[in-house]
Amino acid sequence: MAVTIKDIAKLANVSITTVSRVINNKTEGVSEETRNRILQLVKELGYQPNAIARGLVTKKTKTVGLIIPDISNPFFPDIARGVEDSAHIYGYNVFLCNTDDNLEKESEYINALKEKYVDGIIFTSSAPSNYEHIMELIKSGVPVIMMDRRIESEDIYGVFIDNYEGGYLATKHLIDLGHRKIACITGPLNVRNARERLAGYKKGLLENGLEVDEELIFEGDYKINSGIVGTEKLLNNNKDITAIFACNDLMAYGAYKTIRSYGYKIPDDISIVGFDDIQLSQILEPQLTTIRQPAYDMGLTAARMLIKLIEGKKLNKKIVTFKPQLIIRQSTGTVKEEKNYS
Ligand code: RIB
Repeated sequence: MAVTIKDIAKLANVSITTVSRVINNKTEGVSEETRNRILQLVKELGYQPNAIARGLVTKKTKTVGLIIPDISNPFFPDIARGVEDSAHIYGYNVFLCNTDDNLEKESEYINALKEKYVDGIIFTSSAPSNYEHIMELIKSGVPVIMMDRRIESEDIYGVFIDNYEGGYLATKHLIDLGHRKIACITGPLNVRNARERLAGYKKGLLENGLEVDEELIFEGDYKINSGIVGTEKLLNNNKDITAIFACNDLMAYGAYKTIRSYGYKIPDDISIVGFDDIQLSQILEPQLTTIRQPAYDMGLTAARMLIKLIEGKKLNKKIVTFKPQLIIRQSTGTVKEEKNYS
């Protein structure tokens, strides 16, 4: 059976707190002789400090939680990579929790992370429109950095991207190529960043004298299949579409599949723009034109902000908003011939 801090204390004839303080190098008030006796026992018995026990004295476990909604979407591992690299530099471990966009699972993970005494949590909520549980967590005093999907509260710390600008850039790019019949496959509209991308799409149309046609908008869910189904619906109802803005890369991949199954070519017949710029998008044939989110840097920044909060340091900004970047590749081209846009 593993040696415990209690065993060491008994053998050294001191309190558990004294052993814990010596292990955590807090030796003021502990004699040299006692300190050496404790360290000798730790070495001889091969004692491994239990993170929770250590946390009971230092009130820190040097661990942070990262809650994401869909680990199967490559965007989130890019975020996690940034969080882990940054946390590691500061000596923190990361507990990764995947909620599958399920609010109940999200609440379970919040409780699990609190029971593990994590020092703070980075959070991409699965249902940011229902966030009482998140505000309770913040009010409980656990440092929290919201990431990517903003909740409708101003009293938060967070790292986001300007989704409105991203939707606008995607649409403007297609209009500059001569497209006038531009469809949009949105993310789940209960998520704020999906609503913001759609608003940017509408701004792009209206700013260029084009009407917003609800028939050209399909609500997806950020997964490949909604790109497949959404494109089928859009093409069946509108034969003269020349471009589709998919509000994330996975749905753009679904659009590729449907467009090809209908016998159309990309971009000759239909241009496609995505959003995220996950690694696959530059390997796809044709490579996907998309809006880049600096997911890795967002993760680095969120972890850095969280650890500053944990260590009681002040943050210069509560909210950090990254700029989106239009990455032009081969899935967009000029409109081939004037279509009857009536
Ligand atoms: O691809 C998944 C989407 O959900 C990304 O665009 C990201 O913003 C996340 O919210």
